[in-house]
Amino acid sequence: MGIPQDMFSQKLVLPSILSADFSRLGDDAACVIDAGAKIIHVDVMDGHFVPNLTIGAPVVASLAPVAHARDAYLDVHLMIDNPDRFLDDFANAGADALSVHIETCPHIQRTLVGIKERGMSAGLVLNPGTSLNAIEEAALFADFVLLMSVNPGFGGQEFIPESLSKLRRARALLSPRVGLQVDGGMAMDTIPAAVAAGARWIVAGSAVYGADDPAAQFRRLQELAQEIA
Ligand code: DX5
Ligand code: ZN
Repeated sequence: MGIPQDMFSQKLVLPSILSADFSRLGDDAACVIDAGAKIIHVDVMDGHFVPNLTIGAPVVASLAPVAHARDAYLDVHLMIDNPDRFLDDFANAGADALSVHIETCPHIQRTLVGIKERGMSAGLVLNPGTSLNAIEEAALFADFVLLMSVNPGFGGQEFIPESLSKLRRARALLSPRVGLQVDGGMAMDTIPAAVAAGARWIVAGSAVYGADDPAAQFRRLQELAQEIA
């Protein structure tokens, strides 16, 4: 259940459909999966925790069969206050991984265990200004940690360079079984250093869907990530 453990150590680019065409999300997801994407990243925003609104569980329920029919997974990034209210909805919608921000979860152990009890992989997310100290204990209950390399809310923002040392420190802090994901401003010029710093799952929105040929661009980014030692 959830995303298989052996995938957490693979260097994977996760296309973020935030920058896709919302009138044809299924096709835009299928196109990058057919080009080799194993995991699609879905950004859920509530207009409270972050200053933008996007989509919710019904859209995940529509995308899940598209991904699952192609042996791909859905990684759902919740940028919402009080995510505990929605764990059942996203589990029932077919999410394979659900990640929650430490900034939104006072009872983070219960939230992460609750995600896993519902059959999903559990991700723990930190904003750029949140110290790694905040997750030293909580990470014991997570399957992966996601470091935001922009302030969440919008695609197309510039990578915050201080994220590189944070990735290195996170990798040193985390148990080897815990995956390390990075999200925000990932493109041809930023991916090599992020992978070298220890990131394994690279979320890329505008770098994929802003290209004329998203499938070809996905392949280029994925090859680039996999070339880094
Ligand atoms: C930002 C989202 C990201 C977003 C990244 O709040 O969490 O997943 O899609 O977009 P890019 O890759 O354009 O920075
Ligand atoms: Zn995201």
